[in-house]
Amino acid sequence: MRKKIVAANWKMNLTLNQGAELVNDLFNGMPVLNDDKLVILAPPFTHLTQTAEQLAGMIDVHLAAQNCHHEAAGAYTGEISAAMLKSAEVEYVIIGHSERRLYFKEDDATLAKKVNQALTNELKVIFCCGEPLEIRDANTQNSFVESQIKAGLFHLSTEQLEEIVLAYEPIWAIGTGRTASSAQAQDMHEHIRSVIAKQYGQEAADNMSILYGGSCKASNAAELFACPDVDGGLIGGASLKAEEFLGIIEALS
Ligand code: PGA
Repeated sequence: MRKKIVAANWKMNLTLNQGAELVNDLFNGMPVLNDDKLVILAPPFTHLTQTAEQLAGMIDVHLAAQNCHHEAAGAYTGEISAAMLKSAEVEYVIIGHSERRLYFKEDDATLAKKVNQALTNELKVIFCCGEPLEIRDANTQNSFVESQIKAGLFHLSTEQLEEIVLAYEPIWAIGTGRTASSAQAQDMHEHIRSVIAKQYGQEAADNMSILYGGSCKASNAAELFACPDVDGGLIGGASLKAEEFLGIIEALS
């Protein structure tokens, strides 16, 4: 069944103490969620164990990492493997975030390998896609996003695809305060679902959660989440303040 999801991407923010305080504040304000709704927190690697301990007993809130390496193990100084994440009680991993693609030069082939590493280690994947401003201005965003999804995911079986959550994040809306309109988000999410349906069938497409990301906040979340093909959000800046993030969680209902 398709789930409604609000996922927090803390990026490279918050010390251990600040992270612990934020999770504590979320814990105190967390509404009771139905079976079809869940919250995911993606803190930095250093916070994972602490956050896992804090989340024990919060059945609606799941732990994610922001990245993993594309090889299983070995001489990759400074990197973290999918197996390490699994052993730290991580359930999800974000792969293909535009900041990883841009600043760390992660290409489609590398991202497909990361997806494989994650699935091999029984992690679920939040796979990100989204176009830069010049592609949006040229009105070629549909084919751009389609090719990202094909390159990253279309080697998977239908069964493997069940472990994937998609996140559409137009780059021009990330951290800029400029949100995609709900019509722009719905158009793209509908397109993405049709791309999945063509390859994997309508049932697989209907079961897939497709999140919107990019300057989503408590004040615009309800309108975005009301779109029929928008199944929640991947939240950056607004996930760093408990009150704001709780407001976004409330917008799921
Ligand atoms: P933002 O980031 O909410 O700060 O725009 C979203 C993301 O990059 O995941």
